[in-house]
Amino acid sequence: MVSTSPLSASIADSRQYLPPANPEGTLSPNQQLLPLTATTTPDDHLSVGGCDVVDLVERFGTPLYILDDHTLRTACRQYRQGFERYYPGEALVIYASKAWNCLAVCAIVTDEGLGIDVVSAGELLTATGAGADCDRIYFHGNNKSFEELTLAVEVGCRVVVDNWLELKTLGELATREGKTVPILLRVTPGIECHTHEYIRTGHLDSKFGFDPDQIESVFEFLASQPQLQCLGVHAHIGSQIFELNPHTDLGAVMAQWVVTAQRYGLTLTELDVGGGLGIRYTEGDDPPSIDTWVKTVCESVIAACAAHDIPLPKLLCEPGRSLIGSACVTAYRVGSQKVIPGLRTYAAIDGGMSDNPRPITYQSVYRALVANRMTAPLAETVTLAGKHCESGDILIKDAALPELKSGDVVTIAGTGAYNYSMASNYNRVPRPAAVLVADGDATLIIRRETVADLLRQDCLPETIRPKAKST
Ligand code: LLP
Repeated sequence: MVSTSPLSASIADSRQYLPPANPEGTLSPNQQLLPLTATTTPDDHLSVGGCDVVDLVERFGTPLYILDDHTLRTACRQYRQGFERYYPGEALVIYASKAWNCLAVCAIVTDEGLGIDVVSAGELLTATGAGADCDRIYFHGNNKSFEELTLAVEVGCRVVVDNWLELKTLGELATREGKTVPILLRVTPGIECHTHEYIRTGHLDSKFGFDPDQIESVFEFLASQPQLQCLGVHAHIGSQIFELNPHTDLGAVMAQWVVTAQRYGLTLTELDVGGGLGIRYTEGDDPPSIDTWVKTVCESVIAACAAHDIPLPKLLCEPGRSLIGSACVTAYRVGSQKVIPGLRTYAAIDGGMSDNPRPITYQSVYRALVANRMTAPLAETVTLAGKHCESGDILIKDAALPELKSGDVVTIAGTGAYNYSMASNYNRVPRPAAVLVADGDATLIIRRETVADLLRQDCLPETIRPKAKST
């Protein structure tokens, strides 16, 4: 696989963010700022999936999530091909749909042969609604409700059990329904990694999963619960990780759990190593390729199984961000500007923290380009502000951009993961539409929300309805 290509230092315009020529088709999507199909049109516009972004926003409005089918499918295939190349046993790539759960995305990853990780009844029903196979759906979460567990048993998906309450509830539910429920156990691996503290989950002080000290009592309990079929163990270290070491270490930790389970008469056949591979949001980000990550995971598990003389398990991983993050851009229109001489220029776009809460939540840094003037020189340092009533609603501080005019189509790269899925209606702003682009065609995959959609959920009891004023 080709490693990261540096952004072109010689081009001082938006074209520097485009992916390099890729005749071999080997670029790893997570190492690119823009979707693999991104290019410029003869009109000097950004094009994604063969569609002119300026045309798209005229047709579908702004803000607009533009999802590139080719980039998403390429990432799916690179994960699958990696396991075919490096793992002699059975493997399954599961899409962590919390990154972006909607019918179209679930349908595409299913079509590419992936399973789906869900964390709520909403995500589960979206996955099944998109045609995902229930025995390839893995239900996660640290506080699944009784209704959610009942639904999981009903549809027959796998449940990744997080804690004692869930384990006991599920045992009772399985007995009541007369079903055998396939489960995995989520265990905190005690592995540190360097990422934002909110998205670190593998260290011991985490709300997720059984503490490793409890694992023997869990296995002992499971030995008496034949209605719970414990297939294996799961661990997730964290998200937006660029290091490979945590996953080198994880295989050894997890293989040890398999050995411990044997002492309780349990044969674990599935190991799920979670997700976490990072993506490139700026030129300073240098994540490993999908291929390298998969190779590391496979080698770690193969070596650990050899060391313990246990058979190779079915190996699962559950990437979210690195599958879909780089496949999407968000297009906005520029509106008002405020120039504070000698201090800063603010340019406001028609979205912000409601469609991309990552900068305000994690101080995430993004790159923007002007989709209607790709070769305009990057002449200004501008702070791209959102439209929300909150000073912190800044999408990019000090972005290098051409001189902006109202109406320009500013496009932010790398918005496929945890943008739509974390979007809100702050300030009663309806959530944007999303289109899927492929081979020059654009298809609506999420309708733009309207204020009427929001008002539909409101109730105004007669008792508090203001009386019409008598004149
Ligand atoms: N598996 C489990 C159990 C997870 O908790 C997660 C992410 C994943 C897989 C997928 O991780 P990924 O491959 O996407 O790194 N909202 C945050 C990210 C939260 C990640 C939550 N768990 C953000 O915007 O950065």
